[in-house]
Amino acid sequence: MTDTPGTEPEERLPAPRPDLTPVRVERLASPPSTRRFGLTGERAAQIVRQSGSARWAAFLGVSFVAIFVLAYYFYEVGFPGVAGSSRMVKAQQDQVVTNVSRGYALFQANCARCHGAQGQGGIGPVLNDQMKLLAHLNRQYLRNVLTAGGRYVCGDANSLMPVWAQPVGPLNYQQIDDLIAWLRAPNDLTFEGIDPSTGQPAQISGWRDPNFVAPPSATPVPACWKDAFAAPSAAPSASTGVPSAAPSASPGESPAASAAPAATVIKIVAQNIAFDLTEIEVPAGQPFQIEFVNNDAGIPHNVAIAEGSPTGKVVFQGDIVTGVTTVTYDVPALPAGTYGFVCQVHPNMTGTLTAK
Ligand code: HEC
Repeated sequence: MTDTPGTEPEERLPAPRPDLTPVRVERLASPPSTRRFGLTGERAAQIVRQSGSARWAAFLGVSFVAIFVLAYYFYEVGFPGVAGSSRMVKAQQDQVVTNVSRGYALFQANCARCHGAQGQGGIGPVLNDQMKLLAHLNRQYLRNVLTAGGRYVCGDANSLMPVWAQPVGPLNYQQIDDLIAWLRAPNDLTFEGIDPSTGQPAQISGWRDPNFVAPPSATPVPACWKDAFAAPSAAPSASTGVPSAAPSASPGESPAASAAPAATVIKIVAQNIAFDLTEIEVPAGQPFQIEFVNNDAGIPHNVAIAEGSPTGKVVFQGDIVTGVTTVTYDVPALPAGTYGFVCQVHPNMTGTLTAK
């Protein structure tokens, strides 16, 4: 077992194993009296009591966490049966309102000068029309128009509306999203905004009626807004759904008109999205002529006459002409009464016509 250097090279014995015999060591320094494992009954009961209260504390702790998790869950997604109690839905709605109100401000700043503060139309077409908002002015279409500019609408390379989206235009993708959110905002969504007419804060609501259903007589909105007014004598009025009285009335009246050329010629000038006259008077029961001068370059206008008020039943519809142009409309005889006249492209251009 001893290591003898002299013999090792010849015999090649395996390395000696260490001695594994356990050695008794006194490991505890405390006196033997404390190292007694037998428990007294009292001590055992104490241990049981203590471990019981520890389990109780653990149970309470786990229950607390579980109840908290559950309560937080319902706080986030809403308590069953309690409407509007979900924090997440509320946060989402707040975000929508934020986007819409930012879009509203962008619209007033950039678009209102052409499309009207209420989207009622002006240099640019009407945007707040329910038929248009139903399907024509959908999100993708709006995005395309704002990205490609007005030329996207009718393919007119000289469209008055520029590109809005970056990089060509001034608005970034978030601003485009906000604008779309505003244009599509339902009318039950209200928020605080600046009223452009007063400059004061006011409650603003969206244009779109989410419950709007197209009337059965409605024709689909044409892809190019100018087509809505094209050839009014061939198609019934698209905007009102009321067949124009002009086509049926004019054949009967025109021989009379040619036999005795209309004595009355009324000149109406459209300029800066407004008529120069708001009151006109014509002889009742006699055909007359309207010399219509459209001085708005590149902007279509017409004169239509409606019973009672500009929004009444259309009794005469002049062809839409794009400025700068002059046309003469032959208007059939009108029974005595009060009428309204309106540009059907720009329903905010109105006036009163009296036949007597
Ligand atoms: C310089 C006037 C002008 C401004 C400013 C303008 N637009 Fe236009 N917009 C037009 C004209 C004009 C058209 C019709 C396009 C054509 O036929 O060439 C049009 C068309 C549209 C259409 C398509 C309407 C339809 O019936 O298909 C939308 C949508 C639109 N504009 C939204 C906007 C928004 C949003 C802004 C503001 C960021 C804006 N426009 C600013 C003049 C303008």
